[in-house]
Amino acid sequence: MKPIILDVDTGLDDACALLLAARHPDLDLKAVTCAGGNVGIDQVVVNTLTVLEAAGRPDVPVARGAALPLLQPVRTAPHVHGADGLGNLDWPKSTRTAEGRHAVELLRDVLLEAARTGDLITLIPLAPLTNIALLLRTYPEAAAGLREIVFMGGAAGIGNATASAEFNIWTDPEAAAITLTAAGELGVEVTMYGLDVFYDVPITLSEAKTLGGSPSADLARLLIEKRCDLYRADRATIGDAGAVCAVIDPPGLTTRPFPLRVELSGTWSRGRTIVDTRDWSGDLTTDPFGPQPNPVQVATAVDGPRYANLWLQTVS
Ligand code: BDR
Ligand code: CA
Repeated sequence: MKPIILDVDTGLDDACALLLAARHPDLDLKAVTCAGGNVGIDQVVVNTLTVLEAAGRPDVPVARGAALPLLQPVRTAPHVHGADGLGNLDWPKSTRTAEGRHAVELLRDVLLEAARTGDLITLIPLAPLTNIALLLRTYPEAAAGLREIVFMGGAAGIGNATASAEFNIWTDPEAAAITLTAAGELGVEVTMYGLDVFYDVPITLSEAKTLGGSPSADLARLLIEKRCDLYRADRATIGDAGAVCAVIDPPGLTTRPFPLRVELSGTWSRGRTIVDTRDWSGDLTTDPFGPQPNPVQVATAVDGPRYANLWLQTVS
C-alpha cells in the first residue's frame, strides 16, 4: 500500500478525492489536513470529517490548518461549491472533532515517522498551499519523510479564478512559490496536476445515477449531481480526485518536466503558474539569462475514461 496524506479545502471535488483516497485498497490514508479555501477553515474541517465518515473511515486523523493565506484575505467560492462547500446537500454533518494538533504539526509528525521507518509518503495537496509552505519552512527535516508531492493547482494554459490564475494558486501565491522553492532546495519531486487536465475526467449524470447502496456511493452520486446542477451540464469532472488517480495509476497521466514559477505581482497575472515550455534540450542549466528553478513534472494529458472508471469503481 502507498502511504498518502491529503491536504484539502473540502469542496465538492475535494470530497470526490477524499472518497477515493479513503477507499482505494492500494492507498494507506495516513492523515488529512485542512486549509481555508473553497470555504472557511471551520467548514472545511466539518466537511472533511463528514466525507470520511461516509467513506467508512472515521479513524483517519484530521487536523485544522491555516485559516488564511500568508498575505491576503481568503476568498471563498460558494458559487462553485455551495455556501457550505458541499452543495448544501441534505446529508448529516459529522459531529466528530479534529485533532488537537495543528495541521502543520500533524504533517510533521506523520512525515518524521515515515522518515524513521522508510515507508515514504506521497503528499497530495488539493487546496491553497498554505499548510505545505508553512511545513517546509518550519520543519524542513520533515521532507525526509516525503516520497513526492502531487498537487492540484496551476495551469500551463488559462486560469479559472482569473483569466491567468487557477484558484488554489491564486488564493495563496506566496505559499505556492515557497512550496516550489523549498521542494527544489530539499530535493522533493513535484508533480503539478493543473487545469490542463483537471476538466478531462468527467462523470456523466447517467453514470452517477448508477451509484448507490452504500453511504460512500450515495454521497458520490449526490456530489456529481450537484456539480452538474451548478454547472448546468450533463457531466462533471471529478476535479481534485484526478490527482489521487494519478498517484494510484501513474501511467494514466502524461507529464513533462518544465521549470515552473509563480507570478507574485502583475496587474492581471498574479497567481499564474509560469510553465517554461521552451526547448531546453534536456539541459535546464543553459539559460543565458539566469538559472532556472528545479523542473516540476507538469501534467499535459490524462486518460479521462481510465480515471473516471477508477473513481466510479472505488467509490461504489
Ligand atoms: C481547485 O479549486 C477548487 O475549487 C477545487 O476544489 C480545486 O482544488 C480548482 O481550481
Ligand atoms: Ca480543492
